[in-house]
Amino acid sequence: MARSDGKNTAMRLSRSVAVERHEEPGLGVVGAIWIDNPPVNALSQHVREGLAAAVPAVADDPEMQAAVIVCRGRTFIAGADIREFGKPRLPPDTNEVRRMIEKSPKPFVAAIHGTALGGGLEMAMACHFRVADANARLGLPEVKLGILPGGGGTQRLPRLVGVPRALEMVTSGEHITAAEALDLGLIDGVVDRLANTSPAVGAFRFALRAVAEGRGLPRVRDIESHRAAVRENPGIFSDFRRRIARRIRGFNAPEVCIQCIEAAAELPFDEGLLREAELSRQLHADPQSRAQRYYFFAERAARKIPDVPADTPVREVARVGVLGAGTMGGGISMAFANAGLQVQIVEQSREALDRGLATVRRNYDRSASRGRFTQEQVEERMGLLAGGTDRDALAECDLVIEAVFEDMELKKKVFAGLDRIVRPGALLATNTSYLDVNEIAGETKRPEDVVGMHFFSPANVMKLVEVVRGEKSAPDAIATAMSISRTIGKVPVPVGVCHGFVGNRMLFQRRLQADRLVLEGALPWDIDRVLYDFGMPMGPFRMSDLAGLDVGWNAATSSSSTLREMLCERDRRGRKTGRGYYVHDSATRAAAPDPEVLDLARELAERLGIEQREIDDEEILNRCLLSSVNEGAKILEEGIALRASDIDVIWINGYGWPVYRGGPMFWADEFGLDKITGILDDYAARFDPDQWRAAPLLRETAADGGRLSG
Ligand code: 3HC
Ligand code: NAI
Repeated sequence: MARSDGKNTAMRLSRSVAVERHEEPGLGVVGAIWIDNPPVNALSQHVREGLAAAVPAVADDPEMQAAVIVCRGRTFIAGADIREFGKPRLPPDTNEVRRMIEKSPKPFVAAIHGTALGGGLEMAMACHFRVADANARLGLPEVKLGILPGGGGTQRLPRLVGVPRALEMVTSGEHITAAEALDLGLIDGVVDRLANTSPAVGAFRFALRAVAEGRGLPRVRDIESHRAAVRENPGIFSDFRRRIARRIRGFNAPEVCIQCIEAAAELPFDEGLLREAELSRQLHADPQSRAQRYYFFAERAARKIPDVPADTPVREVARVGVLGAGTMGGGISMAFANAGLQVQIVEQSREALDRGLATVRRNYDRSASRGRFTQEQVEERMGLLAGGTDRDALAECDLVIEAVFEDMELKKKVFAGLDRIVRPGALLATNTSYLDVNEIAGETKRPEDVVGMHFFSPANVMKLVEVVRGEKSAPDAIATAMSISRTIGKVPVPVGVCHGFVGNRMLFQRRLQADRLVLEGALPWDIDRVLYDFGMPMGPFRMSDLAGLDVGWNAATSSSSTLREMLCERDRRGRKTGRGYYVHDSATRAAAPDPEVLDLARELAERLGIEQREIDDEEILNRCLLSSVNEGAKILEEGIALRASDIDVIWINGYGWPVYRGGPMFWADEFGLDKITGILDDYAARFDPDQWRAAPLLRETAADGGRLSG
């Protein structure tokens, strides 16, 4: 420890923590405990060490009347240092530090700016008071990492804000605003920037006033009012479990979080803490948590492109143009309007435009009726959408996204036109699902400005954007597409050009197997069930029924060559016609298996000389998943994806792959690459050798005992 010689003396307590004597004229002296651990002031070992030393440092200084924990940089403590998880924990233990703070003879105040998350909010709740900057956000996001707030969060939060709100916050992991935190009693004050104080100074004054007013040393652990309320409403936990059952299907952590909050309601504080610690250990050891932690870093890694450094200048995007107001154009326009950007939509006809805008309004109204938006917000968003049929309206846009029919000739014509109309320097993006972005870019005189921005349906909801880098896409065009995608709340992943890019190319292999399995005797509903039980939101046949079997089907050329053709020929086009792979009840929306589909599958199998047999769930799962994993390895080999973890981010955000299984490549690593090559070899011998040949990368990595996902 070294003491500086300045007047406002600062004492370094550890690598990242210093305590400074700070005098507020007329009010007194506080010990400002500064944490400086970039980028997010996580509770790394040296931060814990510094905080532990700060408690006696303030207590022993006769001048200091209170302590204020305050952070340098962009945020208050954003939680435990996730990089330390899974490694031996070095002392001091964070809960020990919290205990010291709670028992401090002088009040501790947390001065929150940016985000107080996880262990950071837990540290703040161990303080006697909390104040926040008006823009701050607070939350316990541990559940997203497959763990629980194990720093007393499950015991203190319900005591502060009540059980119902604590249940919501802890099981969803969502952040709340400072205003809501104040309403809930989670914080004691919002530091008003307008009063010309920095958040830190506001907190210093708050602390000294609290001392002057004799507010004492209130401890969250002692608050009893909310616990008493729960005793009068014992059904609260079972009701809550029922309400969120669908949302948390397959996840282990939310249920364990609920059990901790039950303990908070029923047990004395210290016993509750012990229960929390026991259940926290259980979750830390759970493979789901490993997968979810992997995903946390995978999502962040996906933003990094080796030859597009983080400081690549991005082009300003204020005005967005969208060509086509169909399923995707409408959803993409909503995604931009939701982020407050102006959108100019251009359609080929007035009718198509009116239809598209009416769908957008219907979607917004539906969200409003579910309480997700106010009617005023709906009008605000609709007000950001301008529509027309004249492409010249796109001239001054900074980004134009094409979402017309999936037809190469049409797209080429559209891009040649955009090249003539849109101002130089604007970004031109195609939302094509499969087509060659280089060929499309080749129609313009500025292929460096052309990229793919592949959104997923429904585009206003699904988080993924595959940012497709053409041969000639300029680095700043790619950086801009990545950056604007993040601005509108999406998760962008860079990919290269090939048929179907990453996600759809892998999905195609899964679909091939699903169709083939049905011909070999598996039941479509069994395939759907196996994939649903694995954690996917829906199996492929349910999905087809929902999307419509006739997407891409042509009645004139249909020749009963696939089961899908046979179904369409019988007007079984999915839910919209009441029948597809399933029979749909229009009133209840229930889908029931239909033996006619099996008869048709049998007839086709006979015609193709395919022998039908019993197929067990394990083979269904392996064939569906390993076919796409093998394709994923080829995609990696070809450099279409930069990292295996990028593929995982794509599947989690675009296809509903359960994050607690980490994505297909992580899952494959956990399953065992050796085992996988063995199964692929077996399938190659039994079925189609070309189809099942293991990707060299997969075989080599397995032979080296390595992992694809790192
Ligand atoms: N531990 C270690 N590294 C972290 C971290 C953490 N808690 N939080 C963020 N980082 C790293 C990121 O990996 C990233 O590193 P990189 O630059 O090398 O890729 C860097 O910090 C910046 O992070 P973001 O890119 O996410 O920065 P943003 O500004 O977009 O977001 C944030 C900031 C909102 C704080 C966001 O980083 C975040 O949500 N962090 C995680 C918060 C969290 O989950 N906290 C709970 C941790 S578990 C816990 O506290 C257990 C306790 O209950 C016992
Ligand atoms: P859609 O058929 O719903 O909409 C296409 C719209 O483009 C129609 O409204 C049509 O009138 C309009 N259009 C056609 N030619 C035009 C022109 N010259 N100028 C202006 N508008 C024109 O099709 P959808 O599903 O929205 O697909 C659009 C693109 O997005 C396709 O390339 C598709 O492959 C891709 N895509 C589709 C996904 C989906 O799930 N539907 C997912 C991701 C990408």
